[in-house]
Amino acid sequence: NKQKLWGGRFTGETDPLMNLYNASLPYDKIMYHVDLEGTKVYTAGLEKIGLLTKQELAKIHQGLEQIDAEWANGTFVINQATDEDIHTANERRLGEIIGRNIAGKVHTGRSRNDQVATDMRLYCRDILTKKLIPFLRNFINVIISRAREEINILMPGYTHLQRAQPIRWSHWLSSYATYFTEDYLRLTQVLERLNKSPLGAGALAGHPYGIDREFLSKNLGFAEPIGNSLTAVSDRDFVIEIMFWSSLFMNHISRFSEDLIIYSTAEFGFISLSDAYSTGSSLMPQKKNPDSLELLRGKSGRVFGEMCGFMMSMKSIPSTYNKDMQEDKEPLFDCMTTVEHSILIATGVISTLKVNKEKMEASLTMDMLATDLADYLVRKGVPFRETHHISGECVASAEKLGLSGIDKLSLDQFKGIDARFNEDVFNVFNFEQSVERRDAIGGTARSAVLKQLGNLENKLQ
Ligand code: ARG
Repeated sequence: NKQKLWGGRFTGETDPLMNLYNASLPYDKIMYHVDLEGTKVYTAGLEKIGLLTKQELAKIHQGLEQIDAEWANGTFVINQATDEDIHTANERRLGEIIGRNIAGKVHTGRSRNDQVATDMRLYCRDILTKKLIPFLRNFINVIISRAREEINILMPGYTHLQRAQPIRWSHWLSSYATYFTEDYLRLTQVLERLNKSPLGAGALAGHPYGIDREFLSKNLGFAEPIGNSLTAVSDRDFVIEIMFWSSLFMNHISRFSEDLIIYSTAEFGFISLSDAYSTGSSLMPQKKNPDSLELLRGKSGRVFGEMCGFMMSMKSIPSTYNKDMQEDKEPLFDCMTTVEHSILIATGVISTLKVNKEKMEASLTMDMLATDLADYLVRKGVPFRETHHISGECVASAEKLGLSGIDKLSLDQFKGIDARFNEDVFNVFNFEQSVERRDAIGGTARSAVLKQLGNLENKLQ
């Protein structure tokens, strides 16, 4: 234990299992780069207040760069006895490279508490700005361009998974693009909130040498220092927010996938997935299963569980840093990777699936125009509650007469149900027209869908 960074007050050895149980290096070493960046800026801050000389700072920065290279090319050698996490590993190595006399000054006024909080924010910021946000934007753009290309295709819209009204396939696409655009905007807000600096807060009480926290913050690209040192070290809201964001996003992904799984069945036959995103059965030679979509749906449960698990870890722990908080890493890192891969897979699925226009349009049935039939009488001045009833009678009557649809009732039969039906009633039975009538904001008419897509593109700018 004497070898450990905190070993001074210890006489006994740590239980070997406790060493493993305590260590976070196996999973926090992926933060090696931001940890070194944080130390660079922190030591520059120390130099600024006279706690390091310019020469010492230069040596330290050289050493940090060497460590960075060692991690990057896989030559960093971990010391199992001392390296419990990425912070201790980097500091130990710095001592070996530039000597302990100088390396021993690096941690002056700093604690792993403000260090790890800083690293985590930097790491999350990187993943959000380099991966999740641009990948998500691309995913949405793929959906939007598909929606533009296939604007002519009609399909049944469903409520309760029962055929409801005809809609454009692009309207369905635009619906999910709308969800995902909200997700996109929400994620940029999460990014904005997490981009604050805990560095210089010390272990909890603040910095005893008057370090310039504004300087540290600015040089790490943060918007501002977190205003309370106790909060700076104890706040993991950003971790929870990312996992909450991910849960909600995956919820949308899951519903999107569920729709597509249903549409890909032989019974629906609206779409077929590309081979690239399907797998077969080991027993049934004919099978082509939508595994990509099922995994997208299944992984939403995993992400939600990660959020719940860490929420539980954080609840009722007392103020400032407690080791419970080390439990933020595995769920968060897994969550961000799962979401990253899910966005990429969903993008692949949607850009390669084939739409069966004939099957979609053949699934439209005349009963789906029963609302339009009611609307026909509304346009003649009959109150909707009454027309709803009359149209329902038409549906029942066609059913009773064994007709293939309400459009097969004769004018006499229509008039028998309500005298206000005229010759022009037969104009109602046109799916394209039904869709085109719904041209108010958000509707399924061509112009309305195109407007939706344009608005989404504007929001993605
Ligand atoms: N590995 C630790 C974590 O991830 C770093 C902080 C340790 N701080 C402490 N006071 N033990 O949370």
